[in-house]
Amino acid sequence: MSSKAWGGRFSAQPEAWVDAFNASINFDKTLIEYDVQGSIAHATMLANQDIISEEDCKQIIDGLNAILVDYQHGNLALDESLEDIHLNIEHELIKRIGDAGGRLHTGRSRNDQVATDMHLYTKSEVNTLIALITSFQKAIVNIAEAHIDTIMPGYTHLQRAQPISFAHHILTYYWMLERDKSRFQDSLKRIDISPLGAAALSGTTYPIDRHETQKLLDFSAIYKNSIDAVSDRDYIVETLHNISLTMVHLSRFAEEIIFWSSTEANFITLSDTFSTGSSIMPQKKNPDMAELIRGKVGRTSGHLMSMLMTLKGLPLAYNKDMQEDKEGLFDAIHTLKGSLRIFEGMIDTMTINVDHLEQTVHNDFSNATELADYLVNKGVPFRSAHEIVGKLVLWAIQHNVYLLDVPLSQYQKASQFIESDIYDYLTPQNCINRRVSYGSTGQVAVRQQLAIIKENLA
Ligand code: ARG
Repeated sequence: MSSKAWGGRFSAQPEAWVDAFNASINFDKTLIEYDVQGSIAHATMLANQDIISEEDCKQIIDGLNAILVDYQHGNLALDESLEDIHLNIEHELIKRIGDAGGRLHTGRSRNDQVATDMHLYTKSEVNTLIALITSFQKAIVNIAEAHIDTIMPGYTHLQRAQPISFAHHILTYYWMLERDKSRFQDSLKRIDISPLGAAALSGTTYPIDRHETQKLLDFSAIYKNSIDAVSDRDYIVETLHNISLTMVHLSRFAEEIIFWSSTEANFITLSDTFSTGSSIMPQKKNPDMAELIRGKVGRTSGHLMSMLMTLKGLPLAYNKDMQEDKEGLFDAIHTLKGSLRIFEGMIDTMTINVDHLEQTVHNDFSNATELADYLVNKGVPFRSAHEIVGKLVLWAIQHNVYLLDVPLSQYQKASQFIESDIYDYLTPQNCINRRVSYGSTGQVAVRQQLAIIKENLA
C-alpha cells in the first residue's frame, strides 16, 4: 500500500520537492488540537449511529489522544510527504491501531475536516483577542482615571488646537477598541458554525448526524448547505479585516506614543523596560515597541488583501487555493496578540510628564477659541469675534507673547468688551472645565464618560 492516503489511483509519486510545494504541514500543525477534537467528535457520532463499532471508536479516541500528547511532548515526527496535519495524524493512527484507524475517515473528507479545524481555531483565537482587548482597555482606563485633571494640547492637523484633558484624549482609544471588540464579538456568529459532515461537498450516504457533532464540538450553529460549508472562507476574511482595523488603531496610538516620547514633545517617558538603545549613539532611548506595532500593520493589512485575492474567482467548492488561508490568518492573530500585550505593558509602565504638559499649553495659542467665545458671550457675533481674536493673535506673535501676556490696554484697543477677568477666563484649566457639552473634555463630562465606561467593563 502506498504511504499516500490517496495513493491507490497513482502509478507514480511526486518527488520530494514537489511534495514540499504541496505540503501545509509546516504551518497547519498549529491546528493539531482542533483536528484531534474534530476527529473525536466525528468518531463518537459514527459509533452512536452504528456506522463504526464502539470498540473501534474507543481505539480511535485513545489513539488520537495519545498522538496529541506525543506531539505536545515533542515525540511525534511530522512528514512533509504526508502533506498536512490531517493526513499525518491519520497515517500515525493507522500505524498505531490498524483497521480501526482506517475507519475514522468514513463519511468525512479533508474538506469538511479542515474547515472544522479552522472554525474551531478561529473561534478560540477570536475569544482570546476579545479578552486581550478588554485587558488593554482596562489599562487605558486606569491611566485615564489618574489623569482627568492632567492638561495637554489637543491637536488638529498636528497643530495646537485647544487644551484638553489627558484622560479624554486617551479614552478615545478605549472607544476605538470597543468598536473593534464588538466587531469581533459579532463575527463569532459567522465563525461559530459547524461544517462537519458536509464531506467533500455533497454530504454523504452514511446515516451521519451532523447535529450531534455540532453539539459535541460546541458549535452554536450548523451550515445548512454542504457546498457552502466547505467553500466558505468569509469568516477568515472578516477576521483578517477585524484584525487589520484593530492594528490600524494600535498604529495610530503607537504614532502618538512615538511623538509624545520625542525630545520635542516630552509628554511622556517610556520605561527602560519597553525601550531599546542604539548601537552607536550612547544617548539614545528608542520607542522600538511602538514603532514595531506601527510597522506590523503592513503585514496584517497585507494578509487581508492576500486572502481577498485568493478567494476572488474561486469556483465552488473546495480548491487547493484555500490552503493559502492559513499562514496569513495565523500570522495576523499572532501579530495582534503580541501587539496588544506589548502595548499594554508599554502604557502601564510609561510616565506621563504632567508638569511639562501643563507648561506646554501655557506656551501656545490654544486658548484663542476661548477668547472668541468670551466675546460672543458679550454679544459680539462669532465671525466678528474670530476676526478680532485673529488680529490679537497676530499682535501677540509679533510681540513674542501669548494671549495671557497681552496687556489689558491692548485687549481693550481690540475690543471694548474685554475686561480684566479675561486672564482668569483664558487659563487652560478654565478653558477645559468650561466645556460642559455631553462627551466633551470638561472635567464633569469626562467623569460621566468614565462612569459609562466602567459600567461597560464591569
Ligand atoms: N491541507 C488542505 C488545506 O489546508 C486540507 C484540505 C485538502 N483537501 C483536498 N481535497 N486536497 O486546505
